[in-house]
Amino acid sequence: MMHLGTILLGTGSHVGGWRLPEAQFGSQNFAHLRQVVGIAERGKLDFVFFADAVNSGLDAHPGMMLRFEPLTLLGALAASSSHIGLVATVSTTYSQPYNVARAFASIDHISQGRSGWNVVTSASEDAALNFGLDSHPEPNVRYDMAEEYVEVTKGLWDSWEEDALVGDKETGRFVDPAKMHVLGHAGAHYRVRGPLNITRPPQGYPVIFQAGASKRGIAFAGATAEVVFTAQQIPDEARAFGDKIRDAAEAAGRSRDAVKIMCGIAPIVADSKAEAREIIARLGTLGDPQAAMRVLNDRMGYDMNQFPLDEPVPDLPLTTAGTQGHATQLFSLARREKLTVRQLRDFAAASSGHRLVLGTAEEIADDMESWFRSGATDGFALMSPYLPGPFEAFVDKVIPILVKRGLFRADYQATTLRGHLGLDKPAHPATAASA
Ligand SMILES: Cc1cc2nc3c(=O)[nH]c(=O)nc-3n(C[C@H](O)[C@H](O)[C@H](O)COP(=O)(O)O)c2cc1C
Repeated sequence: MMHLGTILLGTGSHVGGWRLPEAQFGSQNFAHLRQVVGIAERGKLDFVFFADAVNSGLDAHPGMMLRFEPLTLLGALAASSSHIGLVATVSTTYSQPYNVARAFASIDHISQGRSGWNVVTSASEDAALNFGLDSHPEPNVRYDMAEEYVEVTKGLWDSWEEDALVGDKETGRFVDPAKMHVLGHAGAHYRVRGPLNITRPPQGYPVIFQAGASKRGIAFAGATAEVVFTAQQIPDEARAFGDKIRDAAEAAGRSRDAVKIMCGIAPIVADSKAEAREIIARLGTLGDPQAAMRVLNDRMGYDMNQFPLDEPVPDLPLTTAGTQGHATQLFSLARREKLTVRQLRDFAAASSGHRLVLGTAEEIADDMESWFRSGATDGFALMSPYLPGPFEAFVDKVIPILVKRGLFRADYQATTLRGHLGLDKPAHPATAASA
């Protein structure tokens, strides 16, 4: 079975999508987000995902400019949904492991095992200015911090063995202190004594997601990630990327199938391919060109305004200022399809650089089936240019076809995010040692 999740930006993935009369304006509208999560749950999706950054810019993508703090949002959604996985980004560069381990443990308990954490080191340089720093730490330092950070959070989630909470009313014994573990971590970047003041999350650990694509990013994902997001454009490159992640997992002593690869797509369901193209063209007239360029600049790590708009995208080396996975894909797409800077900008603005899949419900299902069956991906992270129309069309028209073809579940078979993804619950180290 393929895995399906959705990347939700309250304004949709297209920089101009929110301007359509039928688009709901949802960045800070909880009723709208709850409705969209309800649609995702009706489609039996594995999860909804909220990206995040701890900075803002006036010329940013509207969906990333103003929005809810994602863990607060997950807490609210945990109470208003019943099955779907709830995943959010938290940056390891700009937070502390104790707070974050505690927040995720709480969400995992409140949702009864449906939380997931997209571990990022933060793509945005100006986030540093909100945290008492003059500049963004360089990538190697960020990944050093992230590796230690994840080790600390896992140690904190293991503070209490599964049966440490006794709650015996007769004897008055509340907890079994022998089943409590003090972490006592002292490393290069963090000193955390522990223990955490909440018991082990129902899933053991929330599901760990990752989306880095640099050499360090891939090694980190191989060592820690259970789901990897990527914005691949062609199946051969997607397969090669998946192999790299699985090689990295093996190098870290994990099994090759311990990591699920989820390629991002922005499907536009219409009555024909031509009509889907018209929808994209219409959206293209609504996007603010500067916001669109900012999406491209953030991905590429260059100020693309310096190049003539209607000339081919120049061949440039990758930089650590961009998001390397996206930049690799975008340069490769521009070369392959001989795109101008304007065309690449408009593409990035439509789906934040994820693959656009246009056509009828059958054509979209065919495309997904072929990627999945050829081993290019384990599933798809869906983006919608605006909400809720295109997302609802996908759930109501494409998912039934995938179900009919035996590619996707007709109903939830599990109640936890690990269950949906077919991932084992990590054993507590004390239990694992004695097993
Ligand atoms: C689907 C997807 C979602 C992402 N979400 C976030 C996010 O929410 N916040 C963030 O700072 N970076 C996000 N990124 C960027 C990566 O996590 C990573 O920070 C970036 O690629 C830089 O790491 P790298 O140099 O190893 O590629 C996302 C990337 C992808 C493909």
